[in-house]
Amino acid sequence: MAYLLSARKYQSSDSVANSYDQWTNDGILEFYWGEHIHLGHYGLPPQRKDFIAAKHDFVHEMVRWGDLDRLATGTTVLDVGCGIGGSSRILARDYGFAVTGITISPQQVKRAQELTPEGLNAQFAVDDAMALSFPDASFDVVWSIEAGPHIPDKAMFAKELLRVLKPGGILVVADWNQRDDRIHPLNWWERQIMRQLLDQWSHPAFSSIEGFCELLAETGLVEGEVITADWTQETLPSWLDSIWQGVARPEGLLRFGIFGFIKSLREVPTLLLMRLAFGMGLCRFGMFRAVRADANPQDFSGTIGESLVRSRSL
Ligand SMILES: C[S@@+](CC[C@H](N)C(=O)[O-])C[C@H]1O[C@@H](n2cnc3c(N)ncnc32)[C@H](O)[C@@H]1O
Repeated sequence: MAYLLSARKYQSSDSVANSYDQWTNDGILEFYWGEHIHLGHYGLPPQRKDFIAAKHDFVHEMVRWGDLDRLATGTTVLDVGCGIGGSSRILARDYGFAVTGITISPQQVKRAQELTPEGLNAQFAVDDAMALSFPDASFDVVWSIEAGPHIPDKAMFAKELLRVLKPGGILVVADWNQRDDRIHPLNWWERQIMRQLLDQWSHPAFSSIEGFCELLAETGLVEGEVITADWTQETLPSWLDSIWQGVARPEGLLRFGIFGFIKSLREVPTLLLMRLAFGMGLCRFGMFRAVRADANPQDFSGTIGESLVRSRSL
């Protein structure tokens, strides 16, 4: 019981891995959230949508926003912090990409592999986003949804995401961020809310949209400007919808019993605080797109090729 109610503070990558291993093994998160551990996209203005359908829509909206739908079959994608592979499978199945998903959680890798049908071009491995095991310029696209808040060193995260990208390749990131406190400092109440949001779900820190944009630019690996967007409004209904799932799907109670019920119930205050923080502008849902600069113009061997660009008419 004490374990159920204790905070899950960030301690190290291992504590994040342990948290996700437990959330994966008990099956509760997957039962309610499906294969996607991220918010849904409800349009602008937000419309009523099925909770899981909104998550699928999020992936397609992110593909469109990132201008990835023009890329050809076989485009190589690294999904950083892939969870149990929901996005990776959509990218492989619906866009024909060759996807490698990495997560810090061994149990997520196991579950992602179980959920991936044979023949689908999606593979999974344990790896650390702060020290990726891939050589420089390995992928045409690097993609990441909601992994950043678990990463303590955001500058290293930014560098690693761009390092493994081929020159001309595209980085697309979707993340929870906090308001830029350099411009508008947090008051006492806001600091208490942020502390809870960090400690409950193993987050060392949230960056701001402006701050992470600067970190990407400061790597010196970005061609032109980093493009950002704020999808707070489009994703906001997810928070209350996720609480509603517990009411709308009472069969979860039978399936996971009293411990499952308590475990789910303990998430409700954090979900409400998240809704409050995103609703009042303390947190913001940030989107980031960057193109990898051509580090060495003589070396075209690792460059994303014209052959990978699919004609829009196809
Ligand atoms: C909120 S979940 C998002 C999962 C997935 N992107 C999705 O949308 O379903 C955060 C993910 O980041 C992963 N993660 C956290 N810290 C990581 C790290 N240092 N290296 C790699 N993955 C990490 C977690 O294991 C988890 O898979």
